[in-house]
Amino acid sequence: MPNLLPTCDMLHFMDRFDRISKIGSTGDGGVHRPFGSTADLELRDLLQHIAREEIGLEVHVDPIANIWGIRLGSENLPAIVLGSHHDSVPHGGRFDGPLGILVALEVIQTLKEYGFHHRHPLAFVSFTAEEPNPFDVSTMGSRTIAGRLTKEHLLQVTDWDGRSLQDAITAAGGDLTHIPLARKSKSDIFAFLELHIEQGRRLELAKVPIGIVTGICGIYREHITVVGEANHAGTTMLRDRHDALLAGAQIALALEELVKAAQTDGLVGTVGRFTITPNAANIIPGACDLMVEIRGATSDAIHRTAQSLAKATTAIAKQRGVVITHDVLLDQTPQPLAPELIELMKQAAHTQTIPFQSLFSMAGHDATHMASFTHAAMLFVPSIGGKSHCKDEFTEMRDVELAINLLIQTVMKLDLLSSLDI
Ligand code: GLV
Ligand code: MN
Ligand code: MN
Repeated sequence: MPNLLPTCDMLHFMDRFDRISKIGSTGDGGVHRPFGSTADLELRDLLQHIAREEIGLEVHVDPIANIWGIRLGSENLPAIVLGSHHDSVPHGGRFDGPLGILVALEVIQTLKEYGFHHRHPLAFVSFTAEEPNPFDVSTMGSRTIAGRLTKEHLLQVTDWDGRSLQDAITAAGGDLTHIPLARKSKSDIFAFLELHIEQGRRLELAKVPIGIVTGICGIYREHITVVGEANHAGTTMLRDRHDALLAGAQIALALEELVKAAQTDGLVGTVGRFTITPNAANIIPGACDLMVEIRGATSDAIHRTAQSLAKATTAIAKQRGVVITHDVLLDQTPQPLAPELIELMKQAAHTQTIPFQSLFSMAGHDATHMASFTHAAMLFVPSIGGKSHCKDEFTEMRDVELAINLLIQTVMKLDLLSSLDI
């Protein structure tokens, strides 16, 4: 084995990044690649081609359509897995997700080309449907392998147009009828490492190239439906109206007031989807659909806010004479990441004199679900201007290079270990 430590080749990394960024490109710097779209399918093909033909990995697609690429180790041990997701939010950026996949592939390729003799298998994974999508099931791939989504549940899911999830998963190379086979445990996966953009401004403001993530926020999502009464916008007197839009707007404002008043570090609330029916100039809105999301560092703070919002909606329903129903879509607890992996990454940063900062993530990630059954850790690289989930996402490649080299060292150290349990 050569004496020099392995380091990555950023030229072919950037070439790959450009190739994948073209898929689903919106032409303005962003990408539109939601789960189930043609761009999602096209990128799946390209990722499998890169992993199989350019890196020489054994590639397979599991029943929930996660893509895996494996390089066997010398011993019969659980795998060290690196990865992220390749889907995007509607009209999102190029970096959220795919960056972590290309980094995973680069780490494995660099170690392979260096001739690193590894005991554990090294694997990359690209998870299915991490982002919210028309099937209203996010982090679908990681939740499924963690055993948090069942075959029975998934088989009855359809999208907003009635297309079955089974059709979409089949088109992506999976098969929901075999879901139990997708399940992974600690005896399959020794450790999971995910590189991701920070999506906020803390690293940029601190002028630090690397964030070592301590934990991931809890996320609660509730679908609220308001049913009022559609009626003539000119002839209906104000006192006779049951305007569903105005009730929905009051709910959104109530949520803002509640999270402000809670004064709990990091607690945020958002109404990110808001649709009205029939949505016409001369009709009082008869129905309104809202997607409420609450995030925080503790389940307590999240649940208290959700309960207060429920009280507020009862009052709004009474005041406006509308009917409001709630459907909880997600109630994900905050998740600490593995202290043993955090320590290894800190050591690697010290060895390479890479400045870092410890951060708690207010964005959701597949690593949350991986951490529910094995050791999982995350690294962040700075997002310029804190922009994310929009076309302006940007991260400097020099920071990505530091992260790749840090991960290479972490994987090399990790491979010497057979247990991470203290
Ligand atoms: C994932 O992108 C999330 O934070 O919603
Ligand atoms: Mn995202
Ligand atoms: Mn992401």
